[in-house]
Amino acid sequence: MSEPKKLFIKTYGCQMNVYDSERMAEALGGQGYVETKSADDADMILLNTCHIREKAAEKVYSELGRFKGLKADKPDLKIGVAGCVAQAEGEEIMRRQPLVDLVVGPQSYHRLPEMEAKTRAGEKALDTDFPEEDKFEKLKNRPKAKRGPTAFLTVQEGCDKFCAFCVVPYTRGAEVSRPADRIIREAQDLVERGVREITLLGQNVNAYHGAGPNGDMTLAGLIWELNKVDGLERIRFTTSHPNDMDDALIEAHGTCEKLMPYLHLPVQSGSDKILKRMNRSHTAESYLRLIERIREARPDILMSGDFIVGFPEETDEDFQATLDLVEEVKYGYAYSFKYSTRPGTPAAERPQVDAEVADERLQRLQALITRHQRVIQDSMVGKTVSVLFEKSGRQPGQMVGKSEYLHAVHVSDADLARGDLRKVRIKSSGANSLGGDVI
Ligand code: 5AD
Ligand code: SF4
Repeated sequence: MSEPKKLFIKTYGCQMNVYDSERMAEALGGQGYVETKSADDADMILLNTCHIREKAAEKVYSELGRFKGLKADKPDLKIGVAGCVAQAEGEEIMRRQPLVDLVVGPQSYHRLPEMEAKTRAGEKALDTDFPEEDKFEKLKNRPKAKRGPTAFLTVQEGCDKFCAFCVVPYTRGAEVSRPADRIIREAQDLVERGVREITLLGQNVNAYHGAGPNGDMTLAGLIWELNKVDGLERIRFTTSHPNDMDDALIEAHGTCEKLMPYLHLPVQSGSDKILKRMNRSHTAESYLRLIERIREARPDILMSGDFIVGFPEETDEDFQATLDLVEEVKYGYAYSFKYSTRPGTPAAERPQVDAEVADERLQRLQALITRHQRVIQDSMVGKTVSVLFEKSGRQPGQMVGKSEYLHAVHVSDADLARGDLRKVRIKSSGANSLGGDVI
């Protein structure tokens, strides 16, 4: 029997890329590939790229340049670029870096087996289509091998919102939802393989509207269906748009036992002027009212968000409005970014904020967010949380898992296995994690 070929995938960017990388590995598994953790012994290297912020493409080119030596030593080595940079740059990648054999966009990775065969025949393979067929259906069922207790599951892709700064509607295309029965089948399959927590993924996950038995199903409907899956203990979803938080989804946060009390709900800015220019179609006030309603449904919910500072024409006053909003919401987690010009998006043409000003704003915002994050994490001390244990910790006998609020929690000297779900009394709050005892 011939040795299995080795596949090295490097994943950049969001959780959807993590999911896509898993599915690409599975697709190539059918071609006799097994995954390796090192590029050095690979027969195929795939970079699954992200295009959301600046210099992503440049980073990909410099990473590719580093594979020159490897390819010289092993001429059979195939190098591929997948993901959003592949979608955005297409053929240009092969022109600029001739060592690239394969370029595959996010909607075409079910065609990887044929593309790989083409590269083995010495040809280049390029596919950045938005094909009609359902790539998830074209992929074989995920193999039955055991896996860890948490998994991502893509339910919706693409975005029709066209925020003025964002490339996603161009790289991932229009909003498409997968049919509910296929998602439920994939969830059941994951549970059979040992998964106890599923995070539903979509660029606009709460705009989900996949075909169900009685017409289109909303995300709340899908969550209630998943709530019935035996052996599945936890459900999460990300990323949501404020305008798609419907009543049923808010209510589910109060009533659906498997839905975790954590919500990532990006607002981007606290200034109505900037929100308008970002084409966000909500105001700071409507966002705050929405959070009030979510907290009425689930008072202990931990909020998370995304922010952009230095968006074109953002003044000190606009930035202060962002700080005010953060002060009011108090996020348990939040991700803040300096505005990065994306060619082809509407905001790219507008007057830019001075880089130093944007840097300073980013630092101030991050300091405020970190302060709130700290207070919220520390407030867990003395409380009992539920922890799904995922892996062993750094100390001998230690296990680490996540609480329902997504805080990392470590426990020592307990008889715990991967996948155990236990009540833990929190005793301490460290730099990035909580410590406690199983009760
Ligand atoms: N510049 C900076 N941040 C951006 N994001 C999206 N596009 C840009 C951009 N051009 C941020 C948004 C989004 C997150 C995934 O990335 O905050 O919610
Ligand atoms: Fe990008 Fe806005 Fe769509 Fe989110 S909602 S993916 S930020 S365009």
